[in-house]
Amino acid sequence: MAVNIVLLGPPGAGKGTQAKRLQDQFGLIQLSTGDMLRAAVAAGTPVGVKAKAIMAAGQLVPDEIVIGVIADRIAQPDARNGFILDGFPRTVPQAEALDKMLAQKGLRLDHVIEMKVDDGALVERISGRFACKKCGAGYHDRFQPPKRAGVCDNCGGTEFVRRADDNAETVKKRLDEYHAKTAPILPYYRAKGALKAVDGMAEIDAVTASLSAILRGAAGAGVRA
Ligand code: AP5
Ligand code: MG
Repeated sequence: MAVNIVLLGPPGAGKGTQAKRLQDQFGLIQLSTGDMLRAAVAAGTPVGVKAKAIMAAGQLVPDEIVIGVIADRIAQPDARNGFILDGFPRTVPQAEALDKMLAQKGLRLDHVIEMKVDDGALVERISGRFACKKCGAGYHDRFQPPKRAGVCDNCGGTEFVRRADDNAETVKKRLDEYHAKTAPILPYYRAKGALKAVDGMAEIDAVTASLSAILRGAAGAGVRA
């Protein structure tokens, strides 16, 4: 099913967690600008060199850099099978640039889905987050621990990593950036009639069920206007 969707939501809303599940369930690809930028930082590419300090400070990387990264990725052939944008767009100029690049390729967005989570829940979600060093599978100390402590459910890896920007001070800055610069894209998509919402405060499986229902085109189930 080649659908193209955007998952919108504050830091810790569950975008990455759900994008990975939808990727497996629907055969779509997850396009996470955060993951792409972290890979660029780790590899020391020119984009990574520019992004490193900005990300560590919890600020947004300049639009032209992120738009360039996503334009290159969407141009690759596997994007034709459908994609989940996770963490992009994050500003109105990014949303406008996305519309333009999709129109040029004869593509469109099928769903823009806001994951609604109270600010108060986000710090705990982010401070408890970790991932498998080998395969990247995501976990949480309290909400999503591995089935066997210290062993990745997915690949059996035993080393785990925490993100450099997952500390209380940077999370606050990321949240401020979200409210100031990203939340204004909600009315942008609402005006186009493309915006849907799910209750991101629900348990992880319940959120997946709500998102799946939207992707399957079922009205109702977990959808909040
Ligand atoms: P990015 O990597 O996109 O970070 P973010 O938006 O801050 O979002 P997170 O990845 O922190 O949260 P998530 O929603 O994916 O939550 P997750 O599923 O992991 O961006 C990082 C930085 O890169 C930015 O600050 C910026 O500098 C730069 N950047 C990236 N894109 C950019 C752009 N377009 N423009 C400019 N700059 C850009 O879940 C969090 C935790 O909670 C996990 O441990 C999970 O297990 C747990 N959890 C998930 N769902 C639930 C649930 N329902 N109940 C309980 N726990 C849950
Ligand atoms: Mg993420």
